[in-house]
Amino acid sequence: MDNNKILEMKALHFSYTEGDEILKGLDFVIDERSTAIIGQNGAGKTTFVKLLKGLLRPTSGSIHFEGNDIANMTVAQLAKHIGMVFQNPNDQIFKNRVIDEVMFGPLKIGMAESVAKQKADEALELVGLKDLAEKNPYDLGLSSRKLVAIASIIAMDTKVIIFDEPTIAQDYHGKELIKSVIRKLRFEGKTVITIIHDMDFVADTFERAIVFAKGNILLDGTTRDVFAKEDILKEAYLEQPNVTKLCQSLGYDEVFLTTEEFITYQKAKAK
Ligand SMILES: Nc1ncnc2c1ncn2[C@@H]1O[C@H](COP(=O)(O)OP(=O)(O)OP(=O)(O)O)[C@@H](O)[C@H]1O
Ligand SMILES: [Mg+2]
Repeated sequence: MDNNKILEMKALHFSYTEGDEILKGLDFVIDERSTAIIGQNGAGKTTFVKLLKGLLRPTSGSIHFEGNDIANMTVAQLAKHIGMVFQNPNDQIFKNRVIDEVMFGPLKIGMAESVAKQKADEALELVGLKDLAEKNPYDLGLSSRKLVAIASIIAMDTKVIIFDEPTIAQDYHGKELIKSVIRKLRFEGKTVITIIHDMDFVADTFERAIVFAKGNILLDGTTRDVFAKEDILKEAYLEQPNVTKLCQSLGYDEVFLTTEEFITYQKAKAK
C-alpha cells in the first residue's frame, strides 16, 4: 500500500434526496499534507467530511482509509482513526468539567483511563487550556469552548483530524494558536483536513488546498498554485488571500501567500 494514500475517494457520489446530487463523482486522494477544503456555502464540504466519518454513506462510489473500504467499518470503528471537530462546539460539548469532556472521546474508543488522562492533559496543554481543566465548559467563552472541543478530539489520538471551520469566534490570538496546533499535529504525523472560509489562514497554514464547487473539485494543488488561479477562484466565489491580491495589483508576477514572505523577498531584492 502507498503510505501516502491516507484516504482515497473513488467516483464518490452523494445525495440527501433523490435527484438532487450534492457530491457528483469525486476522485482524489488525501495524503499526509495538511489540506484545506475551501468553497462557497453549500458546495458540499461538510457533507464530504461526514462521509469520511461514516455519519453519511455514499450513494455510490467508495472511500478507502489506509487501503480498507470504510463501507465495511462502523462509525465506532472509524472513530478510532478519524476524528472531527464540529463547526459549533455546543453540538459537541456536554460534560460539566473540561477534563471529563476531553477524556470522554478517548475512553469511548477504548483507551485505558490512565492513557486517556495523559492524552487529555497533553491535548489541553497543546491548546493552552491546561489551567482550566477543572472548570465547567459552559462557564467559558465561545472561543475557549471551541478549544475544548478541539482538545477533546486531539486527545483521541486519531490518524486523521478534521476541523470544520476552526477559526469561527476566534480572535487574532486564538487563530494563531490554532495555526500552531495544526502545524504541530502535522509534524507529529497526523493528517489534518480543514474546512475553512478564511483564505489568509489557509495561505499561512496549509500545504494543499482543494476547491469544492457545486459538488465537484474545481482546483486541487499546493496552496500557492491554487491561489495563483484568480479567475478560477472567482468562479467558485472565492477571493485570493489579502497579500496575494495586493501584490498582484501592484504588478508582481510572483504569488505571495503571507506578509512575511513578501518582506523576505523585498529584503533579498534590496541587497
Ligand atoms: N441533512 C440535509 N438534508 C438535505 N440537504 C442537506 C442536508 N445537509 C446539507 N444539505 C444540503 O447539501 C448541500 C451541501 O451542504 P454542505 O453543508 O455540505 O455544504 P458546505 O460546503 O459545508 O457549506 P457551508 O460552507 O455553508 O458550511 C446544501 O445545498 C445543503 O442545503
Ligand atoms: Mg459546512
